[in-house]
Amino acid sequence: HEEFTKVKNIATIELGRYEIETWYFSPFPPEYNDCTKLFFCEFCLNFMKRKEQLQRHMRKCDLKHPPGDEIYRNGTLSMFEVDGKKNKVYGQNLCYLAKLFLDHKTLYYDVDLFLFYVLCECDDRGCHMVGYFSKEKHSEESYNLACILTLPPYQRKGYGKFLIAFSYELSKKECKVGTPERPLSDLGLLSYRGYWTRVLLDILKKHKGNISIKELSDMTAIKAEDILSTLQSLELIQYRKGQHVICADPKVLDRHLKAAGRGGLDVDVAKLIWTPYK
Ligand code: COA
Ligand code: NA
Repeated sequence: HEEFTKVKNIATIELGRYEIETWYFSPFPPEYNDCTKLFFCEFCLNFMKRKEQLQRHMRKCDLKHPPGDEIYRNGTLSMFEVDGKKNKVYGQNLCYLAKLFLDHKTLYYDVDLFLFYVLCECDDRGCHMVGYFSKEKHSEESYNLACILTLPPYQRKGYGKFLIAFSYELSKKECKVGTPERPLSDLGLLSYRGYWTRVLLDILKKHKGNISIKELSDMTAIKAEDILSTLQSLELIQYRKGQHVICADPKVLDRHLKAAGRGGLDVDVAKLIWTPYK
């Protein structure tokens, strides 16, 4: 694709109380070609060339949270589900914004086909976007996540693993296994590896007796291939008589768990009010 080789045009964005340096090119409409900075409304994600335009916009914009349904709230943390078909402009704005931090993902202009799960920290001024993931309404390949982003000011605080955990909780409610769309970025893969390792090894630690990959997959909604590759990369799989056998020496598991980093923020499933998209 041509856009991969294009030079980054927008160097910084203003979003809520943050000024953020961008990472990659994003194909904003041609009328923005002459800008190096864009000003985003943090609620509707409309973007403007000048600060004064944003200030004028903020006086009229009624939104204080993403459009769509709040499907999860735990303390100050809320998740909104936005249907790309019902909120096309918002979906497109979110994609333009996200592409600034995503390297090799193609941008989906066809936002109709996606749901966007937008994570917010809420206070008396409104719900401030922390990050999001997108999900195809119908995936032939059992993808449960297309793109994932934590905005740079919020990175490395456990939100990424929260978003990943959330995507699997949705899959559990759908009674399906899921996997993220490929390719994953380096940071994406690190986050997934950390999540898979923690979830699987926590189960292996507690479990007594044999357990199969299929059983692990049923319990976690993680696709069997991802379970196998995670356990193989940790050298926890042995072949005996043509079968996979999972090694579960508690000391070995503890060592890997320690290396897998922090758990991230927990998803409290009791607080998820959601029915699968039909
Ligand atoms: N350096 C090294 N490791 C990092 C890292 C960094 N800058 N950022 C994340 N990680 C790894 C760590 O293992 C971390 O776990 P730890 O903090 O317990 O050690 C783990 O990833 C996840 O950290 P977490 O805080 O839960 O994730 P995050 O909120 O920073 O979000 C991404 C992770 C991938 C969503 C975020 O980096 C991002 O938005 N990147 C740009 C978009 C992208 O690449 N998306 C994936 C492709 S679709
Ligand atoms: Na983009």
